[in-house]
Amino acid sequence: MNVVRQLLAANPVVLAPMEAVTDAAFRRVCRGLGASLCMTEFIGAEQILADSVIARRRAALADDDRPTAIQIYGANPDLLVAAARSAEAARPAFIDLNCGCWIPAIARRGAGAGWLRDPAAMVEMARRIAAAVALPVTVKTRIGWGPESEMPIADLAPRLEDAGVAALTIHCRTAAMGHRGPADWSWARRAQERVTIPVIVNGDVTTADDVARALAETGCAGVMIGRAAIAHPWIFREARARLAGREVVPPTDAERVAMFRVLTEACVATRGERAGVAAAKRHIAVLGPRVDRTQVLRARVLTESLDALQVLYV
Ligand SMILES: Cc1cc2nc3c(=O)[nH]c(=O)nc-3n(C[C@H](O)[C@H](O)[C@H](O)COP(=O)(O)O)c2cc1C
Repeated sequence: MNVVRQLLAANPVVLAPMEAVTDAAFRRVCRGLGASLCMTEFIGAEQILADSVIARRRAALADDDRPTAIQIYGANPDLLVAAARSAEAARPAFIDLNCGCWIPAIARRGAGAGWLRDPAAMVEMARRIAAAVALPVTVKTRIGWGPESEMPIADLAPRLEDAGVAALTIHCRTAAMGHRGPADWSWARRAQERVTIPVIVNGDVTTADDVARALAETGCAGVMIGRAAIAHPWIFREARARLAGREVVPPTDAERVAMFRVLTEACVATRGERAGVAAAKRHIAVLGPRVDRTQVLRARVLTESLDALQVLYV
């Protein structure tokens, strides 16, 4: 039985890996709201093999942080094989290979979405890693490098399945698009139609209705949410309610303030005061539309301004 399919059958709504966002603290928040399956931030194969502080922190999975997959990236298949073997020690749910990162410093050297420039090499790399580890191996990629007229993902998906890949996440943009332009979910549908392994559709899923629509329109086994969760982690609770036919209940003002406090304190605890407060500002939108966010951002100490906020809302 495909383990990833089992996990998605239990809950098809997955938290996307996002560097500097989806650390253990944020995964805990999202899991508490219904994102049962999570993925770590991407971890460089070289960093894993050098046992760097960052790699060790990103790959550490607490007992209550499961099921979580470890995502690795790199351009060198030998190092990726060794890194995947090493990552197994943390007992993740599976190992995910990042073949979708568009950031030039990564993609241009052949890692991340750089693999899409040589699909044959990508399939071979995935085959080697799937054969080298006991855990399931999955791939997260994009529909193509861009700007192809026919996206390579439709052909690539069955080749990755043949290579032993257990599931595919498809961010429905090309690498050239970065995060610009609309995601085209129809490519995830075409990929899912051609494989028996589960496909997870990703890109521009921002509401509970989007979740239901993405699953219905593509026939995919799962749907992955990234940026929308930064501003509105309740999307997982709302999506699960929507899929179960229950009422979708938005967060209360008190929940919003409490959430921003939890996220701010978690950011400060893991990054220190200065960097932590800067990171927490990314989540300012959790406070919702009824609060003057610029006022909060200007505050010297976020946690103090939160006490004032509580009064503003009530
Ligand atoms: C801040 C940030 C960091 C990201 N880091 C990763 C990463 O480490 N690994 C990865 O596969 N994708 C990463 N992504 C891409 C997301 O996982 C996702 O594919 C993309 O944001 C599209 O989904 P969305 O429209 O739901 O945000 C990142 C995206 C953002 C915005």
